[in-house]
Amino acid sequence: MIEFKNQLINDFPEYLFNEINHLKLNARQNGRDIIDLGYGNPDLPSHPLVVEKLIEAAQIKKNHKYSVSKGIFGLRKAVAEKYMRNYNLAIDPNKNIVNTIGSKEGLTHLLLSVLNIGDNIVVQDPSYPIHHYAPLVARANTIKIDSLIADDFLNELENELKRSVIKAVLVSFPHNPTTQTVNQEFFDRLVNLAKLYKFLIINDFAYSDIFFENELPPSLLTSDPKLEYSVELYSLTKGYSMAGWRVGFAIGNESAISSLTKLKSYIDYGTFQPIQIASAVALNELDNYPTELSLIYKERREIVTTTLTGLNFSVQESNATMFVWARLPKNFSDSYNFSKELLNEANVAVSPGVGFGERGEGFIRLALVENKNRIRQAMKNLIKFFDNYV
Ligand SMILES: Cc1ncc(COP(=O)(O)O)c(C=O)c1O
Repeated sequence: MIEFKNQLINDFPEYLFNEINHLKLNARQNGRDIIDLGYGNPDLPSHPLVVEKLIEAAQIKKNHKYSVSKGIFGLRKAVAEKYMRNYNLAIDPNKNIVNTIGSKEGLTHLLLSVLNIGDNIVVQDPSYPIHHYAPLVARANTIKIDSLIADDFLNELENELKRSVIKAVLVSFPHNPTTQTVNQEFFDRLVNLAKLYKFLIINDFAYSDIFFENELPPSLLTSDPKLEYSVELYSLTKGYSMAGWRVGFAIGNESAISSLTKLKSYIDYGTFQPIQIASAVALNELDNYPTELSLIYKERREIVTTTLTGLNFSVQESNATMFVWARLPKNFSDSYNFSKELLNEANVAVSPGVGFGERGEGFIRLALVENKNRIRQAMKNLIKFFDNYV
């Protein structure tokens, strides 16, 4: 058979979560009740007001036509106003914001728009898998820096900048999978480095709206209000539980945004217009919804951290995200085998840390995407698993 394959895509490393997913599906087909804390797919619903607006807008015929690929003005304006309310930043919806089909698509096409083949880009390790793969799509050269401790990442970045010419630095805070947050001074330092070495900073801000204890995670753009060196990726997926709607934004440096807007104008016609209209309603009218969702994640987090700490995991403290990141207890080091055993013996799916990069080895990530009762059950299963083990 003749093979029609692009070499680059063919050479992509195998997605490490695939085997765990496969085992999970098999177990379910065999009638086992798997509690899935592996896949970060929010279980909480989108707000009813947004769903109603979608239905209403879908009934209007003119909304069935192609939309605009950069997003309708009302939606981009709603994001600009949200940034004004949250961060006191004045952002021009025409020059500095483009709507993307979620932040994942936004990131991939952003890198294609700003990097040339062979350019160096720094990414965090561990990190969300697309951070490792999007640079490959752009045929860039990836330099991975340990990000288990955010300040160490910055120190190592400083060393790397003395050695290599870096075109872009991709970070994500609040961070998936490590759940770390940073303060504004972290971004100030990063922007100062960008000014000195002339690189673009991209902050994947997917968890901007899921935070606890009233600690609003800082925006990179506050440290660079003239938007000279920065692009932030904002998304409705987590904060508004709108994962399937695919609504994200790239916000920041005018030339990067216009390059991405141009590329997207060739590739797509924008998200279905009723989705854009309903998303603007979410942004304009539902500031409290992310806060409500955050409370739910906080309660779930407490159940998981209490159990894991009791089992001698070392849990990363955090005031944000919908995950728990924990170092395996002594005597365990292989996160992949541990996750497989947990699935087989305790019917609980988690993500092995190594799936997020080699520096994630020795850790697991639990996504808080089942209800409290199911999470309590998962923790009971875990305790039993360890009882049997010892
Ligand atoms: C860091 C990070 N970025 C992006 C995404 C995907 O977001 P979106 O649905 O906006 O593409 C996720 C989802 O888990 C994520 O963890």
